[in-house]
Amino acid sequence: LPKAVGAGKKVLITAGPTEEPIDPVRVLTNRSSGKMGYALAAAAAARGAEVTLVSGPVSLKVPDGVKAIKVKTAQDMFLAVTEHAKDNDIVIGCAAVSDYRVEKVSDQKIKKQDGIDELTLKLVKNPDIIATVGHMEHKRPFTVGFAAETNNIEHYAKDKIVKKNLDLIVLNDVSKQDIGFNSDFNAVTVFDKEGKVAAFPKMTKEVLSGVLMDLIFEMNKKA
Ligand code: C5P
Repeated sequence: LPKAVGAGKKVLITAGPTEEPIDPVRVLTNRSSGKMGYALAAAAAARGAEVTLVSGPVSLKVPDGVKAIKVKTAQDMFLAVTEHAKDNDIVIGCAAVSDYRVEKVSDQKIKKQDGIDELTLKLVKNPDIIATVGHMEHKRPFTVGFAAETNNIEHYAKDKIVKKNLDLIVLNDVSKQDIGFNSDFNAVTVFDKEGKVAAFPKMTKEVLSGVLMDLIFEMNKKA
């Protein structure tokens, strides 16, 4: 039998949304099912890799053979990823991370006040997790990002690859309604620093994850 493409490889994948508390009962979050990240984790494990999934709150089952670290906030996800990144060959950022968090989390439920019709929440920027991995100076893993764009896809892909110092970026065209987000389907285009590497038409996230992991293992071997 041929050796599995991911054998001996360690892969860390972020998945799902993050959840930023406002007060004890309210959160700020992103719409993300986590399906793509969990499917990638399953595909990487099926190809023989040792997989760590750093996951925000989702209702999906952790794939067999995958080690999961469950987190809630972007800061917790950042800590988990930066702790483990140097021990991995490949890091894939599939999570929909909250770009901002509430500066001062209220320790009591914020009350609705009579006569006051406006409430201001001050937000502060969260760290960019995959960009931090991309810019690691020591034991930097092969770094893959995801992006959801509706227009000027190639322009934004190139911009993000440079800013986050990624090896590959996987672009979802979210202007199409039947794919991406909560769907079981996705269609993506993959870019590296030189330009377009591959385009995959609409297929299930399970099938797509397989072809993406094959491509990622292949490109990592060449890098
Ligand atoms: O900049 P944008 O959010 O469009 O980039 C998306 C990519 O960056 C995804 O791979 C996502 O997981 C990652 N990201 C991150 N930390 C953030 C924001 C985005 O790792 N704070």
